[in-house]
Amino acid sequence: MNSQRWPYPRVIAHRGGGVLAPENTLAALRAGWRRGFRAAEFDVMLASDGVAVLMHDPEFGRTVTGAGQVAQTPSALLQKMDAGSWFGPTFAEEPVPLFEDVLGFCRAHGIFMNIEIKPAPGHDERTGSVVAHLVARFCEETPELSPTPLLSSFSSTALESAQRAAPHLARGHLFDRVPKDWRSRLEALGCRALHCDHRYLVQQDVDEIRAAGFGVFCYTVNDPERARELLAWGVDAFCTDRIDLIGPDFGGRNLS
Ligand code: G3P
Ligand code: MG
Repeated sequence: MNSQRWPYPRVIAHRGGGVLAPENTLAALRAGWRRGFRAAEFDVMLASDGVAVLMHDPEFGRTVTGAGQVAQTPSALLQKMDAGSWFGPTFAEEPVPLFEDVLGFCRAHGIFMNIEIKPAPGHDERTGSVVAHLVARFCEETPELSPTPLLSSFSSTALESAQRAAPHLARGHLFDRVPKDWRSRLEALGCRALHCDHRYLVQQDVDEIRAAGFGVFCYTVNDPERARELLAWGVDAFCTDRIDLIGPDFGGRNLS
């Protein structure tokens, strides 16, 4: 692996702990850690008071019991909400975690973070800026951290705002399909990597993106055969839900 292009782990637990625990919770990160993962992707959104929490959906219902909007709910209330019952009764007490608490957990457990900035609709700029400020402070307080977290987002506005707030933090641009103008979009936002849905990726994309010096990251790869194929194409890393099937050392340590 070209460590300058991609100085990060190759296999990353999606939404904290993939299929082993409710997504975007501390229980998820603990599950991944117990499985040997020292790398996690998770989603960060702002509560109504501007406090960052781990959350994928802007509205409750799928992973958080109840009805309503994350962006209209204060963080103190979110921390008391049930983010685990949907997954199983043993997780019924699992709350929505504060991003700051997750940063602390990852520091204590040596977990590399791919932090996906996931703004609720209309909150792109502020979410990018808040997350970048928090991560920049975290890095200052943790000088031994290597590699430092990788920010990513589907939102160009959030990435631009993160870049303004903390230009030194690494960024990846998320897309579903690789767009024709991927290069200019990565360059405009100072991104070091392109993150995309593996289902629409072809080997020629990988060749071109890597030749231009950018990392290639895929989501969400749950089939070991497909994971092997992508790595053979030169994909630098991927996240997976199937951390029960695909271990942290999948693909070996010495791919070039
Ligand atoms: O960051 C990769 C992946 O998590 C993007 O999609 O919807 O699972 O956040 P999603
Ligand atoms: Mg995500």
